[in-house]
Amino acid sequence: MKNAPSILVFAGSARAESLNKKLAAAAARSAEAAGAEVTVLDMGEHRLPLYDGDLEDGSGVPEEVRTLKQMFARADGFLVASPEYNGSLSPLLKNLIDWLSRKDANAPDLNAFQGKVAGLLAASPGALGGVRGLAHLQQILVGLGAHVVPRQHAMKQASSKMNGNSVIDDETDAAAVAGVAELTVSVAAALSIRATP
Ligand SMILES: Cc1cc2nc3c(=O)[nH]c(=O)nc-3n(C[C@H](O)[C@H](O)[C@H](O)COP(=O)(O)O)c2cc1C
Repeated sequence: MKNAPSILVFAGSARAESLNKKLAAAAARSAEAAGAEVTVLDMGEHRLPLYDGDLEDGSGVPEEVRTLKQMFARADGFLVASPEYNGSLSPLLKNLIDWLSRKDANAPDLNAFQGKVAGLLAASPGALGGVRGLAHLQQILVGLGAHVVPRQHAMKQASSKMNGNSVIDDETDAAAVAGVAELTVSVAAALSIRATP
């Protein structure tokens, strides 16, 4: 692709054996194959404190948050694989979004979500695949100014479909995940061409 968009790929889980990390890895390969420059972010390597207004007032946005905000700000878009907890997104993902949405006095121009293209995925061992959490996630990201692509995939019964190498052992799911990744890359590429004077 002539204008390779940069896409950040991550899961809303820090768990070593996370289904969503495996799904994110599969989506990253598809995004790369579609011509994106891909960065994979492992939230297991970025432990953030729980958002706390007193902590923020006392010492500002934590350095770790600023590092992540820089990664998001540099990207044209992102692909996120979101676990579903009690019908919504995981606390880890909500906490990440909450921190990233805060204005950083030391880096006021960093913008994690406004104008970014977002592709949403979910994996769950359950029968609905995490689709209810994606509805909440979409609403939050649109509220923060992201362009959520109009194609998502929630992979049900994911424990029996993801093997150790993050290969999706189901043709229909694999095609759907690739479709979300490809659409995210092509919309990000199209928007970045339009933004170039
Ligand atoms: C507190 C809690 C609530 C959960 N609620 C749901 C749910 O509403 N829907 C669902 O499909 N799975 C639910 N699960 C199961 C998760 O989908 C499962 O643990 C999944 O593997 C988590 O994602 P991960 O593998 O990427 O860490 C829940 C798990 C926990 C710990």
